[in-house]
Amino acid sequence: MTESESSFIEDQAEALDETFLPNDSLACKWCARVTPASRMEKVAYPIRDIVLKARQVQATGTKMHWFNIGDPNKFDFAPPPWITKAIVDALADSRFSAYAPSDGDPDLREAIAKNEGIGAERVFVTSGLTEGLYFAFQCLLEPGQHILLPGPVYPLYSTISRMFDGESMFYKTDENWQPDLDDMRKKITPHTRAIVLINPNNPTGAVYPRSAIKAVADLAGEFCLPIIADEIYDKLVFGEPLPSIHRIAGPDIPVIRGNGISKNFFYPGSRVGYLALHGPRLDKMMPALTRLCNSRLSVNWEMQRGALAAFTMPPSHLPASLNKLRARRDLMFKRLNEIPGIHATLPQAAFYIFPEVTAGPWASDAEFIYDLMESTGIVGVPGAGFSPPRPGRFFRLVYLAPEAEINAAMDKLEAFMKKRLASPASARSK
Ligand SMILES: Cc1ncc(COP(=O)(O)O)c(C=O)c1O
Repeated sequence: MTESESSFIEDQAEALDETFLPNDSLACKWCARVTPASRMEKVAYPIRDIVLKARQVQATGTKMHWFNIGDPNKFDFAPPPWITKAIVDALADSRFSAYAPSDGDPDLREAIAKNEGIGAERVFVTSGLTEGLYFAFQCLLEPGQHILLPGPVYPLYSTISRMFDGESMFYKTDENWQPDLDDMRKKITPHTRAIVLINPNNPTGAVYPRSAIKAVADLAGEFCLPIIADEIYDKLVFGEPLPSIHRIAGPDIPVIRGNGISKNFFYPGSRVGYLALHGPRLDKMMPALTRLCNSRLSVNWEMQRGALAAFTMPPSHLPASLNKLRARRDLMFKRLNEIPGIHATLPQAAFYIFPEVTAGPWASDAEFIYDLMESTGIVGVPGAGFSPPRPGRFFRLVYLAPEAEINAAMDKLEAFMKKRLASPASARSK
């Protein structure tokens, strides 16, 4: 665990303790036994943990701007109606109220396999891609080994690395958030088990071009390392459609490709995702994944029927959704870069922006985010929560809100920055 990671996790744990542990009346001589296992110290999910503090601010009557969580359906997005119809139909059919087959609904596996260009036996349907990633890390990691992660990274990855006793190892990204191939190469050791590529990227919104994907695939091939390719935002790209890594890498490179319907199909609450195993080098992983799937019984079957509709019908909801997202991205990008002391790069996909605080009195990005939240009600996530491997105060905002709310929040952020830059001491004296 890096130093900034561990201090960030300590802060989060303290915030949780404050919220949940005030009840002295439960103290008795046995209470000391009712404590979480030590491995719980390794669990942090800053995107949601920040909400605990935000609720305290909200309780003071402050109008909040919830720009911390990547859930489009908390704003004015919704799943396409043909997906919800398929779910309603499944709900009316008692066959789908049984446990589903552990590795997924057979029709759904077939449909995914067809899109992926592999056999259905190589597809594992999971409860969101989240569960798929838990499974992949569990299958691959031995204690003390590592799976190379991008820095910054979606925090789930660092948490599951720690939970399965892996070491934290991040490869650098450049000023446009593209993977630094030299750094990646330097970090490959005999203990490396896989390379994670999140493309399009959360938290940065970066999209890697074909050349970068090919270079990572070649490097992985050189060391015979699987690539865990998280492409959960692959249809939410503002420019050219994204070429999926397994089509670029070729059959010799083992690619565990993860996807789902949370983002591309605006259905995060469905909790349907999958892993697709490309390349014969992954054959030994298949029985291990089957065992993990069996151990947790199944994924909600009705929701899988919704996913079947998603993967078999034309995604005609996308043009309008992308236009809406693009307008919001452009607005937030423009407004942020007009604010003194803030610099942002233009996201190419998804709904996140990862700006840097370039001036101002805060000792860390967490300090900035808490001051911002208390002063303006804007809830973002401190960069430390994403383990960026280069110095700087970063934070993540989502640009899912309608333009009027983005403008209102950016007005507040602008006034806040001007005030703090004019009188830095006010941040500390609060
Ligand atoms: C990069 C990335 N991967 C995976 C997930 C989790 O996806 P799911 O909702 O399918 O579990 C998220 C969710 O925000 C994400 O941003």
